[in-house]
Amino acid sequence: MPSHDMNALEQYTSDLFAPEDEVLRELRAEMPRRNIPEINVNSVEGRLLQFLLHTIDARKALEIGSLGGYSGIWIARALPAGGKLITLELNPHHAATAREFYAKAGVTDKVELREGAALDSLAQIGPDAPFDFCFIDADKPNQAAYLKHALQLVRPGGIIAVDNSYRHGSILDPTDHSPDVESVRECNRLMASDPRLFSTIITTNDGLAVGIVKPQ
Ligand code: SAH
Ligand code: DHB
Ligand code: MG
Repeated sequence: MPSHDMNALEQYTSDLFAPEDEVLRELRAEMPRRNIPEINVNSVEGRLLQFLLHTIDARKALEIGSLGGYSGIWIARALPAGGKLITLELNPHHAATAREFYAKAGVTDKVELREGAALDSLAQIGPDAPFDFCFIDADKPNQAAYLKHALQLVRPGGIIAVDNSYRHGSILDPTDHSPDVESVRECNRLMASDPRLFSTIITTNDGLAVGIVKPQ
């Protein structure tokens, strides 16, 4: 389901708190024309990411899974002047569209897109840490692995947010042992139990697990 098939209350919330500008609207219209899957966060979720960034005065953010740049534009726009978003994307076609729309949105100076498998980029990212914020939203079989990296990269007081924590309900199906669902379950268990985190799942579209890294 395209993420912008909102119900009336969500639409009301979006109209009041998260109206899209022309660039975000154009990007959503352009994605299906370019055969990019419409699996971006919706505007209400974009606003929620911005809210989380503001709660901690985030300046440095990491995103795993750029797609066409939709969530990255929301994130970058919540960063102060001099702030930085590093975003990781495997698919060169998605990456090219994301770069194009970061430019249209006027956030190029704040965004660095690193192309390649996220696990490879994460293995090299040590010198860029610590981050204030990490948004995990890429291939689900690696969801738990990405969280383990994020726990090494996000500072105490920082926030980790993980999309698709419900996998459209599949996590509740006891017969579903597919690698993506198993990894999402493992990620959720880690979010709940890792002593470094204080976490919950916010019941968005498909569940957004959020954790704040406790002071050391
Ligand atoms: N955060 C985006 C949506 C991301 S969709 C938004 O809300 O706008 C997931 C993205 O992860 C896709 O673009 C896909 O190409 C990318 N992806 C899949 N496997 C990946 C990998 N191993 N490393 C990095 N990116 C990957
Ligand atoms: C799907 C949705 C997402 O938000 C995502 O990041 C990946 C996949 C999906 O509905 O398949
Ligand atoms: Mg997602």
